[in-house]
Amino acid sequence: MWCSTVREAVDSSRTEEFVYLIESRLRIKRLILRRFSPDDVDEAQKYRDDPEFAKFLPDIPQPFTSADARRFVETNIEGPWDRYPTFAIEYRGNLIGTVELEIDADDRTAMIGYAIGREQWGKGIAVEAARPVITWGFESFDISKIWASTDSHNAQSRRVLEKLGMRHSDTILNHHLDRSGNSGDEVVYEVLRNEWEPGGAG
Ligand SMILES: CC(C)(COP(=O)(O)OP(=O)(O)OC[C@H]1O[C@@H](n2cnc3c(N)ncnc32)[C@H](O)[C@@H]1OP(=O)(O)O)[C@@H](O)C(=O)NCCC(=O)NCCS
Repeated sequence: MWCSTVREAVDSSRTEEFVYLIESRLRIKRLILRRFSPDDVDEAQKYRDDPEFAKFLPDIPQPFTSADARRFVETNIEGPWDRYPTFAIEYRGNLIGTVELEIDADDRTAMIGYAIGREQWGKGIAVEAARPVITWGFESFDISKIWASTDSHNAQSRRVLEKLGMRHSDTILNHHLDRSGNSGDEVVYEVLRNEWEPGGAG
């Protein structure tokens, strides 16, 4: 599915971000988005074993052991691509993060998530990776909306969503417990298919 779907996205693309595709790899400006492989375990552990990286992601164990990394990579390899497509983000030859969709076919929506290793923060990589995945999502699945949510204190993630041109649509008070066990609020952002601008400036 990956190859043919992305090829379609490239052929029918209204965006210049799909630069070229080689053997299931999508190169976008500085990045390669590709599927996970068993060789990714060590590099996954390297960037995910970091309390600062996982500060707003309480489901990521800390320390993040090699067993955690193996499970993480296996899950991403085995996950059903038509429901949970998860792209490994490669930058300068290294695995540095993920960008993924969770497709809800019944609701005709998808959630987008992303996470970048701390060494690479502040370079605009999350936006650069998420933008073509949103375009690909709208072109590949029968969905009318892509949404995302994050802890209200995750200013970096909120900034990414703003730069992508997504709209703040909701704030859910006392939504979750943060890593310290305190109650946290969640902010929700969304973009509708007919609002999406693939070549936005972000
Ligand atoms: C949120 C995240 C994906 C942002 O990725 P990124 O590629 O660094 O994003 P950007 O470079 O566009 O930076 C976004 C904002 O973060 C801030 N920022 C940049 N570098 C920073 C740093 N080293 N420390 C703190 N804030 C920083 C800036 O305000 C920036 O906004 P600006 O471009 O208007 O100046 C990344 O920080 C991350 O993966 N964090 C851990 C996992 C996570 O929280 N994921 C989101 C879950 S919803």
